[in-house]
Amino acid sequence: MTALLYRGRRMRRTETLRRMIRETRVTKNDLVMPMFVAEGKGVREEIPSMPGIYRFSVENAADEASRIEELGIPAVILFGIPGRKDEQGSEAWSEKGIIQRAVEAIKKKTERLAVITDVCLCEYTSHGHCGVLRDGEVDNDATLPLLAKAALSHVRAGADVVAPSDMMDGRVMVIRQALDDTGFGDVPIMAYSAKYASAFYGPFRDAAFSAPQSGDRRSYQMDPPNALEALREVNVDIGEGADIVMVKPALAYLDVISRVRASCIMPVAAYNVSGEYSLVKAAAARGWVDERGVVKEILTAVRRAGADVIITYHAAEAVEKGWLED
Ligand code: PBG
Repeated sequence: MTALLYRGRRMRRTETLRRMIRETRVTKNDLVMPMFVAEGKGVREEIPSMPGIYRFSVENAADEASRIEELGIPAVILFGIPGRKDEQGSEAWSEKGIIQRAVEAIKKKTERLAVITDVCLCEYTSHGHCGVLRDGEVDNDATLPLLAKAALSHVRAGADVVAPSDMMDGRVMVIRQALDDTGFGDVPIMAYSAKYASAFYGPFRDAAFSAPQSGDRRSYQMDPPNALEALREVNVDIGEGADIVMVKPALAYLDVISRVRASCIMPVAAYNVSGEYSLVKAAAARGWVDERGVVKEILTAVRRAGADVIITYHAAEAVEKGWLED
């Protein structure tokens, strides 16, 4: 055997050596925990397709948020399930809406936790689309002022960051304008820039009762085969004032995360979505995979691809059970 100058195994021999040259780390600082808030009192209802994830009523959401803050996770992202839906989705910007009350209660109960709100109409419209309909089609420009109103109402309630997820063209611009015009020029926008029309959102739509009543979201969410289009969306959102750009889902789109990372100098978020979570939970419940190992590897992969921030339903459990590095 001739002498090998490079032997990769030398530096893999002990955990200490491996730790020294580890290229990617996931810590709690990188995570955002999603939460569902529903009407009622004393509600803590597990979502059947998302074991370990609950719909909370406002006061319970505040307690849960405070637990998440104590775990050292920097942020939550809130999704509202209103008691009443209509054609316009008007509960989305109601001063006394579910999200507005949840934000107030959480801000009261926590000190440092960043409260991010998802800005979209799909949970609030009777037809389940992310914008208003005209002749059965989602009307982009008629939806924009409604999104701006919703975002502004979240910020008035105390939201630290708003995250538009509707995929209407121009939404970042109108939201930026609405916030700047009302003295909220320092509130950041985390844009769901490259959001794909994905089958991985199934469990979320069960959780939020937000599946479209007819048709699908392919006329506004992105076509999964496209990656260059993601770069265009990211560029446009940055031009309109996005502070963080997002790729969603995460695991089936690691190449997109990687290309977005290389193509811009803004912080990049990735959303490890409901269906990705449910697949892991279902297999783990059957003993088919080691949940701790799989979760750590998935989150590491998303970070290695280039995400600075990971929105993941695994966040609280992974931190609580010590699955991540400190
Ligand atoms: C829209 C929204 C969705 C998700 C986040 N924001 C659903 C959709 O576009 O149908 C999905 C998140 C997930 O699957 O975890 N308000």
